[in-house]
Amino acid sequence: MLRTHTCGQLNISNLGETVTLCGWVQKSRDLGGTTFIDVRDRYGLTQLVLNTDTDADLREAGKQLGREFVIKVTGKVLERSNKNTKIPTGEIEIAVTELEILNASKIPPFLIEDETDGGEELRAKYRYLDLRRNPIRNNLVLRHKMAQEIRKYLDGLDFIEVETPVLIKSTPEGARDFVVPSRMNPGEFYALPQSPQTFKQLLMVSGFDRYFQIVKCFRDEDLRADRQPEFTQIDCEMSFITQEDILNIFEGLTRHLFSAVKGLELGNFPRMQYADAMRLYGSDKPDTRFAMQFVELNDVVKGKGFSIFDNAELVVGINAKGCAGYTRKQIDELTEWIKRPQIGATGLIYCRYNEDGTLKSSVDKFYSEDELTNWAAAFEAEQGDLILILAGETDKVRKQLNELRLEVGGRLGLRDKNKFAPLWVLDFPLLEWDEETERYHAMHHPFTSPKPEDIALLDTDPKNVRANAYDLVINGTEIGGGSIRIHDRALQSLMFKHLGFSPEEAQKQFGFLMDAFEYGAPPHGGIAFGFDRLTSIFAGLDSIRDVIAFPKNNSGRDVMIDSPSTIADTQLNELKIKTTVSPA
Ligand code: AMO
Repeated sequence: MLRTHTCGQLNISNLGETVTLCGWVQKSRDLGGTTFIDVRDRYGLTQLVLNTDTDADLREAGKQLGREFVIKVTGKVLERSNKNTKIPTGEIEIAVTELEILNASKIPPFLIEDETDGGEELRAKYRYLDLRRNPIRNNLVLRHKMAQEIRKYLDGLDFIEVETPVLIKSTPEGARDFVVPSRMNPGEFYALPQSPQTFKQLLMVSGFDRYFQIVKCFRDEDLRADRQPEFTQIDCEMSFITQEDILNIFEGLTRHLFSAVKGLELGNFPRMQYADAMRLYGSDKPDTRFAMQFVELNDVVKGKGFSIFDNAELVVGINAKGCAGYTRKQIDELTEWIKRPQIGATGLIYCRYNEDGTLKSSVDKFYSEDELTNWAAAFEAEQGDLILILAGETDKVRKQLNELRLEVGGRLGLRDKNKFAPLWVLDFPLLEWDEETERYHAMHHPFTSPKPEDIALLDTDPKNVRANAYDLVINGTEIGGGSIRIHDRALQSLMFKHLGFSPEEAQKQFGFLMDAFEYGAPPHGGIAFGFDRLTSIFAGLDSIRDVIAFPKNNSGRDVMIDSPSTIADTQLNELKIKTTVSPA
């Protein structure tokens, strides 16, 4: 090896040793006669001292050095007079006797330090330099540790890691597929998997019993902070189990990760029905780090002549504790915020429970102070609280109030990144009505089993059929989802029928799976966690981008390699593809 130690390794116990280090020049300070250099590698930072007064070679080499030059130095470990207690190597320095420049560096386009001056676009273009920075590198080290612990835990429970193909045929998980043209089969396309769903079910038919895979998935959907076009799942499937077994094993995995990687012992995860999550938080992924549950007010406020409440399907609000002191301006600001087209509320009604015990609402004309006392009671409000109320169509108003709750929770500092609130959400509806296509879609995916007691409702009341489907939510982020599957051809065909597939279409697309069900398919179920999302929660980040080594930007582009890109006409010809659009 070129080096004897890493830049994070040496300390007072190495005094007097002659060592060789390799790394990048973090910074260099010429103090006239002595040059101090910080050399950095993945493991840390070590201070070098070059006595340039007496050593002409060192003087020459020292002069040439710039930020990010790659160097190899040999020297003696000495005790530092000016100690830095913040880093493990801070008590020593190396008195350099030999310095070799292994490679020069151009001046980097941004500071390679914990706090950088580089904008997002620039850092993305030079991602390999951004990855030299501690905060980003630490995220990848964390990701690696988590992957190791996941494998350890699942291997310990007899799960077998099996790789499934990447060139497949479309799996309907709700997003668009990325497709890959087949040269050998002109006019035909593979699809990249949105998940290995059908393959893992086939592995159960094959008798694998317990499967897992840390696997890339691909979805052509609109991107957000927690969505990338290619992302990684911790994907699992098990045979001969109940929903309870799956919840316990994957709660165990999550607890193991928190314990092994973060040293945090989490208790049993609370569970909530989907219907309750929607009623109490207006979301199927409630952030339960704070309470602020919805209170429905139809019975309390209707019939007093205020038409907005009288005509609304649902009047519902939250209690912003301790916010009665909000000024008119602050409330107007919140109102404007919630009226933005992204959220689309029509207005916000408030009621202050002042410190002096008086109640004051924005609709005093319609509600006496006595009536406001009933409002306060419904919210269990105390003096100093501020009640915020929305009214409208149930689904819409719940969504809007969810946004308001998260915003107010954020403003009140209740969404602490160092606090972790896991939650199982259970009993999702099987089907979801899609306004655009005017038909039902599978809420999870078409292989999810309805609850046996609800199957009869499929014909009469499809939207109230519940599924054996569950999500793991942490801090308001959907970390994972899964279900008990259909393992019976007749029920799977019935499901496709309800999803609007003709028997021929169902056979064409999913015949392979339904055929397999006829050869002794065991009862089975599974779950997949979003690995990027789980890692970003562990790292305390808002976006999954920085737990991915080479992520795409919000337009789905990799600006470093400049992809996607056009391809040569010869390639297009080979694939028998004609394009009529030119790239923007
Ligand atoms: P689902 O579609 O819920 O289930 O996906 C599982 C988890 O994957 C993560 N995820 C994403 N992460 C980053 N970027 C994306 N674009 C993205 N899309 C999804 C989420 C999500 O909870 N086959 C089923 C699982 C099963 O039934 O076993 C599936 O894929 O954290």
